Amino acid sequence: MRLQMMGLGLAAVVVGAVPALAAGAEKPTFAKDVAPILFEKCVSCHRAGEVGPMPLTSFTEVRPWVRAIRAAVTSRAMPPWLADDKPGKFSNDPRLTAEEIATIANWADQGSPEGQSQDLPQLPALADGWRMGTPDIVYDGGKFDVAAEPRSVYGDLPIKTNFTEDRYIAVAEVRPGNRPYTHHANVLIKDDSGQARVASFSPGAGAKSYPPGVAKLIPKGAELNLDMHYNPGGQPRVDPGTKVGLIFAKGPIRQIAITAQSGTNQLDIPPGDANYERVGRPFEFKEDSHILALIPRMNERGKDFKYTLVYPDGTRKVLLNIPKWNYGWVFSYVLAEPVAAPKGSRLETVAHWDNSAANKLNPDPKARIGFGPEIMNGYFEYVVDAQDLTRSTQD
Ligand code: HEC
Repeated sequence: MRLQMMGLGLAAVVVGAVPALAAGAEKPTFAKDVAPILFEKCVSCHRAGEVGPMPLTSFTEVRPWVRAIRAAVTSRAMPPWLADDKPGKFSNDPRLTAEEIATIANWADQGSPEGQSQDLPQLPALADGWRMGTPDIVYDGGKFDVAAEPRSVYGDLPIKTNFTEDRYIAVAEVRPGNRPYTHHANVLIKDDSGQARVASFSPGAGAKSYPPGVAKLIPKGAELNLDMHYNPGGQPRVDPGTKVGLIFAKGPIRQIAITAQSGTNQLDIPPGDANYERVGRPFEFKEDSHILALIPRMNERGKDFKYTLVYPDGTRKVLLNIPKWNYGWVFSYVLAEPVAAPKGSRLETVAHWDNSAANKLNPDPKARIGFGPEIMNGYFEYVVDAQDLTRSTQD
């Protein structure tokens, strides 16, 4: 109880200011206090075969990393997350609470005792494979030879669904065939209206799912495109086959999740420019709608990214602000509460890039950069309020 109150008090305070344990309080142990936090918030990445550099699934594995873990959680560098707190809440926000940070710091400061084995929680059963559970159907993008390149390598792998009727997708996930080399993998539906994203993989991103009654539509006969982005590398590499798993919606579907864009291809970043700005093409809502998720994408030179909803009366509401872009962490930001976008409102985006030598990720500050090496994808997903497919299919 006392710990919890201290945690709450800490919420507004920063980094490093970890309260000492109150006198007489029990010492936190790995088994009882720390393992539950690590198992919930860290081992999805920090386990064999995942992106984290070391596994953190047992006391033996964690012990050599205690100081580093303390530093990573008190600075909030881990778990990674780029969104600024102010605009709103996201249902997939992975961050630790102030209380969890205090628990880990106190445990580290008090000799990081192991505790009793009977207190140790069960390690979550994260199968080597799908995070989504068992997919109903799996597609394989096939083998792809990734050239030895000092730059990123891109691949477009077509996938035939062979669907003989329209299918509604509740959850979608991408499993890269060659995880260390895969920067990201997007699955897009090829159709006349441009390309609608279905799912994507990037380190830290799990399976993508929708609220009850909402699904993604893959039309009959549709072809998917697996759009691969491999990290630069010194030697030729092979992706033995990136896989796409889908779970079909089970219950009645009321609304289709639509993917749209407020971004731009008009990029012309001068060499050395440390603060190049672009405004995305605003997206105007033609009908009353609700926004479900925001999915920004930039590459190495990306600096910041912001989405603002502008209401018909001109009022502005920031939905997502990423003050410091990090190319290594590309997430979808799923709104905890879908945001109403009334007819006539507009979703606007603005982003900046740093093409100077001060940007450590910049592969070539002397280059003028157009669309391709850099991107500004202001993807988002929404539903139209009036849509009710259950009505049209009844009687
Ligand atoms: C989304 C995946 C992901 C999650 C979740 C995650 N990590 Fe990490 N972690 C990484 C990756 C990748 C690196 C190495 C690259 C980097 O530091 O950015 C890393 C680096 C670290 C390091 C630094 C290691 C070093 O070499 O010094 C520590 C410590 C760490 N993580 C602890 C944690 C803890 C503790 C949690 C949970 C509270 C956590 N991480 C959650 C992916 C993750």
